[in-house]
Amino acid sequence: MKSAVYPGSFDPITYGHLDVVRRAADVFDRVILAVLVNPRKTPLLGIEERLETIRRSVAETWPELAGRVEVEAFDGLTVEFCRAAGAGFIVRGLRAISDFETELQMAHTNRKLAPDVDTVFFMTSLEHSYLSSSLVKEIASFGGDVGRMVPPAAAARLPGAKRGL
Ligand code: PNS
Repeated sequence: MKSAVYPGSFDPITYGHLDVVRRAADVFDRVILAVLVNPRKTPLLGIEERLETIRRSVAETWPELAGRVEVEAFDGLTVEFCRAAGAGFIVRGLRAISDFETELQMAHTNRKLAPDVDTVFFMTSLEHSYLSSSLVKEIASFGGDVGRMVPPAAAARLPGAKRGL
């Protein structure tokens, strides 16, 4: 069984992330969304809120993936989480050239740390390539409509957001 870890902050999860989940699940038998608990960052959504939001969003958007997509919190190195989870691959989404430099650096560093764990990239669908969690949070904070950017479970958690209902 081929397992992959999709690590990230997911603060909040967007339709861009969900697109990557779907496509990763077409390639891997098991996909684990690893949600970073980062004591150095102050996320808008706490870790329990993010876990619940992601679980609900995946279940609502891709019900057919039930049992093959897991959602877990992690702290520390992504490669250590991969090893503990028995996963040989890291999945990341690439939206634009601007993502490339950071992702290249992370992929090489992770491979240096753990040659047994490789990184696989999915080009986020054009339709979602403009999306970012930071922009979603900014729009929501000004009362903007984020209903086409994040799933309902995430929109419900964003203070001030209109949900596009
Ligand atoms: O969604 P993000 O914030 O772009 O995700 C970044 C993430 C979580 C993938 C990255 O910060 C990470 O892997 N952090 C865990 C610590 C780690 O392994 N650092 C070395 C990576 S080169």
